[in-house]
Amino acid sequence: MKDFHTMEDFNFKEKTVLLRADINCPLDKKTLQIINDSRVRSIVPTVRELMGKKAKVVILAHQSRKGKWDFIPMEQHASRLARHLNHPVKYVNDVMGDAAKDSIRSLGAGEVILLDNVRGLDCETAKLDMKAHSEAVLVNELAPLIDYYVCDAFGAAHRSQCSLVGFPVKVPSASGRLMAKELFALKAIFDEPRRPSTFVLGGAKFGDVSPMIDHVLGSKKADTVILTGLAGNAFLFARGVDIGAASMEILKDELTPENIDAAKEMLTKYGQRILLPTDVAVERDGSRTNVLIGDLPVPEAALDIGTDSIEKFKKVLSSSRTSFMSGPAGLYEKDGFGTGTKELMSAMIENKGQSVIGGGHTIGAADMFDMTDRFSYVSTAGGALETFLLGEELPAVEALRYSYKKF
Ligand code: 3PG
Repeated sequence: MKDFHTMEDFNFKEKTVLLRADINCPLDKKTLQIINDSRVRSIVPTVRELMGKKAKVVILAHQSRKGKWDFIPMEQHASRLARHLNHPVKYVNDVMGDAAKDSIRSLGAGEVILLDNVRGLDCETAKLDMKAHSEAVLVNELAPLIDYYVCDAFGAAHRSQCSLVGFPVKVPSASGRLMAKELFALKAIFDEPRRPSTFVLGGAKFGDVSPMIDHVLGSKKADTVILTGLAGNAFLFARGVDIGAASMEILKDELTPENIDAAKEMLTKYGQRILLPTDVAVERDGSRTNVLIGDLPVPEAALDIGTDSIEKFKKVLSSSRTSFMSGPAGLYEKDGFGTGTKELMSAMIENKGQSVIGGGHTIGAADMFDMTDRFSYVSTAGGALETFLLGEELPAVEALRYSYKKF
């Protein structure tokens, strides 16, 4: 039974609609240009539908967060969206000041604007609940100018931030097409996964990995967890392997005593159900070189899983009936270090079971290898998908439910 509004519940004609999207994209570190815009493409059906219904569309979104190298304005995102819509999208270099408000007020039916990076506002990232966020300055400034709020930001649905949870308290709100599709598809796949089920967890964020392992192995959503990327290195460290100063340097912010203890606990609790790399690949004399775990430490940083690990992990994935990957196995965008990610993805696709990937960088890698269309399901979300798989409430969805009861 439906417990939040969807887009067909409202008449958007000539109404101002605030659309919260997640178009946070991976960027090239040197040029700061978007290198994969699949998240921008993913909101096109919702924007097109709103335009077709003659709504005045105001898009609000974020790129990274303050203090990170990829925190940039949203101008590039506006041009990308315009290109995919084949329709102008005006970029407004402001979120809630006079420039933003004037642009919102002067919007015509069927027109689209994209406001600037909402994470530039301190109120956005304040750690508050839905009710407190509904009193945030952003909500107070923009809510009076809009008729409806549509949330299509499934990728950020795990964040209790005012642009995600504040507006549904104040204005009638609905899920966008992407949000509804993600929730439906993921529930269908993961409520009763086909067995054996294998989760491959990698990427650059290691802090959230232990609770995820505990939940998916404990609840039997997964039979086996394969760890790659920084999570793999961190767990090797937790198991007592000296991974070397260069790999330690990359991990240093994540290797808190709590995270290390949590990793140790998982290794003790689940033993062989957690598979760690048996070798890594480093860059030596300009080329990819395998180093067995027993031969660590080496001066170079581990940039991918090694050949032996790839073979072992592929065997497990080949016999899996559900496989899920969140986070690439290595620095896939660097020449020669995409092998681990690519090979594991091939094994997932070829096993004829349900194969699911999620997260900006994972999709970026799949796109680079031209594999995206071959997975059973591709989720735009990384962290939100993990929260969903942990069985936890997603604050943005909770806010939509609240709005459903209220309006
Ligand atoms: C993501 O990329 O996972 C979402 O856009 C959320 O970003 P965050 O992890 O910076 O909150």
